[in-house]
Amino acid sequence: MSRTIIVSNRLPTKVHRTAEGLDFQPSEGGLATGLGSIYRSDNNVWVGWPGLFVDDPTEQHTVTERLRANSMAPVFLTEDEIRDYYEGFSNSTLWPTFHYFTQFATYNDEHWQAYVAVNEKFCAAVLALAGPEDTIWVQDYQLLLLPEMLRRARPQATIGFFLHIPFPSYELLRVLPWGADLVRGMLGADLIGFHTYGYMRHFLSAVSRMLGLSIQNGQIETPTRTVLVDAFPMGIDYQRYELAAASPVVEEHQRAYREALRDVRVVLSIDRLDYTKGIAQRLLAFEQLLLRHPEWREQVSLLMVVVPSRDQVAHYAALKEEIDELVGRINAQYRTISWNPIQYFYRSFPFDELVSLYRLADVALVTPIRDGMNLVAKEFIASKTHQRGVLILSERAGAAVELSDALLINPTNTNQLVEALNEALLMPEDEQITRMANMQDLVRQYDVFAWTRLFMDRLAHSKEKQHTMTTN
Ligand code: G6P
Repeated sequence: MSRTIIVSNRLPTKVHRTAEGLDFQPSEGGLATGLGSIYRSDNNVWVGWPGLFVDDPTEQHTVTERLRANSMAPVFLTEDEIRDYYEGFSNSTLWPTFHYFTQFATYNDEHWQAYVAVNEKFCAAVLALAGPEDTIWVQDYQLLLLPEMLRRARPQATIGFFLHIPFPSYELLRVLPWGADLVRGMLGADLIGFHTYGYMRHFLSAVSRMLGLSIQNGQIETPTRTVLVDAFPMGIDYQRYELAAASPVVEEHQRAYREALRDVRVVLSIDRLDYTKGIAQRLLAFEQLLLRHPEWREQVSLLMVVVPSRDQVAHYAALKEEIDELVGRINAQYRTISWNPIQYFYRSFPFDELVSLYRLADVALVTPIRDGMNLVAKEFIASKTHQRGVLILSERAGAAVELSDALLINPTNTNQLVEALNEALLMPEDEQITRMANMQDLVRQYDVFAWTRLFMDRLAHSKEKQHTMTTN
């Protein structure tokens, strides 16, 4: 029987070393949930990095066995590889370039060599498991070269690729010394998926301008194969949020938070620490709200959760300092004995508490400078079973294509942000309900399971089509 193999940089389980030994924590991320039904069934498997350094062969064996029992296979990465492939090429070259932060991008040949070598390492790990006709689904920007490497070794395999971040305009991609190699790497797949048609169009333009290949109806003709390209906007596990929203434990947290905050209105901001998320711009806009609309002082607090991330990369460490400073300055300027303008948390929250925060919030402020999709916006919507609450959303998040009932703003336009905040805080309840209900219909229907199904069906179909073409 043929297998399906999922490949991503990180496994959906994080392994930690504790005083008592190794600790295995399942990840709660959307991708892990969406693909759970695939990799845990039949003989399928998920290949990726377990999140810690394991040099000792005996320990590697223990980790491998534990993961195998849960349908996963580890790729062990060394400290040098993490520095050059993960922090280096993936997060200091590709991440800033693909998010239009070219001023942050570094061009380092050693990092590129490490990126090629680690993609080859992943390729070897997949080939050790994959038969000639298996289905392999590769995830995200850390593994752009993998589809082509796999194709060379397994010409008959069914290979899918999904990019979870934006695909930038050709003008940005051409700045990279390795732009054409990356595009060629992706073309090893039978089907390439993006969150939006915009990203897909940028990719097609790069393919034709960098490689001179012909494109018809979203199909790329390479000398040997046809590659399909399409948009698959990713969703969330809607029901999980909806059910949690009605649970007693969430209700209890929410009640406790409400009591602590008294009757202050809440504007919520939740992100991984990242310069693409527009966190500093958001703080400045909130400061302007307090300055220009003094009637909101002591009436509204910004509840800001920043989840630690990639803190070994210089720009992330600098951003953390900038945020700390801004929060300190604004709070010092405006706070009173009984009111804190900004409630700032630098940590992650357990799922139940997160849902309680979403439910508590009057406004969610989701204002990335660039974002492939942004699932926080969708999680907020799913948690709002009472349909009260307003989403302010950046027009530069992939989610804005679907969520046209949000208040859409340009995240660098402070005036617009300030006025959107004011409008959201004043929005009549019936308008909140109408907008929320429309967005809920959409997010409920296109959940992460629908996303997985659509991609996998399309992938199977693309292969059948190729098969018919070659046998005719
Ligand atoms: C984004 C990327 C993912 C990545 C996640 C967390 O969502 O698209 O590929 O896993 O951020 O980042 P990290 O570097 O901690 O894996």
